[in-house]
Amino acid sequence: MTHNYPSKVRIVEVAPRDGLQNIKTNVSTEVKVTLITKLCNAGIKDIEVTSFVSPKWVPQMADAADVLSQLAPREDTAYIVLTPNLRGFERAIESGAKEVAIFAAASETFSQKNTNCSIAESLQRFEPIMLKAAELGVRVRGYTSCVLGCPYEGDVAVSEVVRVSKALIDMGCYEVSLGDTIGIGTPSKAREMISAVIKEIPAEKLALHFHDTRGQALANILACLEYGVANIDSSVAGLGGCPYAAGASGNVSTEDVVYMLHGMGIKTGVNLEKLVAAGHYISEQINSKNNSKVGAVYK
Ligand code: HMG
Ligand code: MG
Repeated sequence: MTHNYPSKVRIVEVAPRDGLQNIKTNVSTEVKVTLITKLCNAGIKDIEVTSFVSPKWVPQMADAADVLSQLAPREDTAYIVLTPNLRGFERAIESGAKEVAIFAAASETFSQKNTNCSIAESLQRFEPIMLKAAELGVRVRGYTSCVLGCPYEGDVAVSEVVRVSKALIDMGCYEVSLGDTIGIGTPSKAREMISAVIKEIPAEKLALHFHDTRGQALANILACLEYGVANIDSSVAGLGGCPYAAGASGNVSTEDVVYMLHGMGIKTGVNLEKLVAAGHYISEQINSKNNSKVGAVYK
């Protein structure tokens, strides 16, 4: 059987944001900036570096302005920052952001728990961000969370995933990243979801953001690669987890994704050895086990 695998995949590294947002011990700005620099040096070109959310909600991201302003500008690298509302967007722009990400959910309860508003209200909140971003020439990425299930509601209708993702694209996001926030999906579910979404949004505008809570992320990614999706969010050392998604653990590890893709002859532009070193660096700094399988092999 031949598959329509892409020849090249763009990795969006999310460890500095998704990976560190839920860590209980304080991670210094210096460590965050060093991690991001190591990831850049490993050849990653798209990195979600922090989030301008309320520090009362996510204390670990309170130094967002410092992180962003301390990063060396790189012509060929996108430093992406998460912004939940206009306040966050304005803070991000003041700190020099050139690309932001907005986030909605396909589950009402998760939307309430994560952003204290309904799905409809969250989409309304994004409208002034989109207007300002267009004025300033800032690129906006979108997220749909809970695409394969919700920690509060269980099953999520594929039609809701399609509706919310399409709304994000229609309001001007250049791509939408599909989040299996609690790593609950399996490949058949992932296929059902992606085949419905791809009827409305072309593969070039889709990304996969799969958490690996139940060890299914690589299998789910492979299932979606068969549909030609070629943008993958992942987190070095498998760090990650949303504080408002009970039971969520890390994102799929970037090392494991890159190893799989290279083994399949799919290019990423990433140097695996340097990436593995970045994974060990952050695991040591936060005194945590390295959750990458590949990282554990290549010490
Ligand atoms: P709220 O409490 O309803 O907001 O929170 P509010 O407007 O009433 O403001 C409350 C206070 O926060 C006020 O301060 C505001 O000024 C302040 P006070 O007057 O009490 O001193 N505030 C802010 N401060 C700094 N930056 C801001 C900001 N906004 C308000 N941007 C809000 C609503 C959306 C702000 C809150 O719910 C929030 O920050 N939520 C974010 C939660 C979060 O970061 N979750 C994790 C990221 S999403 C995720 O992990 C999923 C993803 O990875 C994809 C996947 O895996 O599926 C993306
Ligand atoms: Mg996530």
